[in-house]
Amino acid sequence: MIDQQEIAVVTGANRGLGLETARRLAASGRKVVLTSRDPAAGAEAAHGLEQQGLRVVHHQLDVTDADSIAALQAMLSAQFSRLDVLVNNAGVMLERHDPQRPGAATALAGDLGLVRRTLEVNLLGAIAVSQALVPLMAGRGRVVNVSSGLGQLADMQGGWPGYRSSKAALNAYTRMLAAELADSSIKVNAVCPGWVRTHMGGPDAARSVEEGADSIVWAATLGDDGPSGGFFRDRRPIDW
Ligand SMILES: NC(=O)c1ccc[n+]([C@@H]2O[C@H](COP(=O)([O-])OP(=O)(O)OC[C@H]3O[C@@H](n4cnc5c(N)ncnc54)[C@H](OP(=O)(O)O)[C@@H]3O)[C@@H](O)[C@H]2O)c1
Repeated sequence: MIDQQEIAVVTGANRGLGLETARRLAASGRKVVLTSRDPAAGAEAAHGLEQQGLRVVHHQLDVTDADSIAALQAMLSAQFSRLDVLVNNAGVMLERHDPQRPGAATALAGDLGLVRRTLEVNLLGAIAVSQALVPLMAGRGRVVNVSSGLGQLADMQGGWPGYRSSKAALNAYTRMLAAELADSSIKVNAVCPGWVRTHMGGPDAARSVEEGADSIVWAATLGDDGPSGGFFRDRRPIDW
């Protein structure tokens, strides 16, 4: 039975896995704060969910903008005085293999500007949002860091240096945060959704957004006996 007052924040929720995660969390009875970098896109996504009878609030959030994060924190404190679920979903994959420029997305010759921009969103954004919002959890909550198998050290290959590094480091941050919160009832986990048909994953990906979001929602709604400090795909632990 869900406490009807539970509040969930999802970053990058105007489309793709974030939107599907927001939809599922709202359908489970939680009040979802659907955040988006682009206010118009987020408002439209929230409106779509409201038309399905779901309880969502839209708020702008650019995870690379400290003022934007502070504004969200202030709204949550003022309106709800609590937070139960944080899904750090916002992410970018900016590096592309380019036949005209061999090596464009390699560790040896990849564009450092793209590496920096990727780390700003995928790693520093998740850290900054966690630092601002986890204190609102008051000792009990769920943090889900949407990671990727491309960040697995156990199977590290070449290519996409910014993206792979950002997700490997996000996994490390997941373990740090879980360790620091081990004495609380806040569970922190990383989830790989698999290769999913979104703007990022492209049309050829193996999974639907519904399939991809399943483990994210599972980790966001773990019971009190659930794991913390793990890395999961399809609800099962995978190697770091
Ligand atoms: N699709 C896959 O196959 C796959 C596989 C493994 C992991 N993932 C991870 O899953 C997560 C969601 O990806 P997706 O597949 O749903 O991709 P997507 O459709 O491209 O969605 C990415 C979302 O992140 C948002 N975003 C980007 N930069 C942001 C910023 N600075 N502040 C706030 N939001 C920002 C985007 O907003 P805009 O619309 O404004 O750009 C968009 O809402 C990402 O972390 C990704 O790395 C995806």
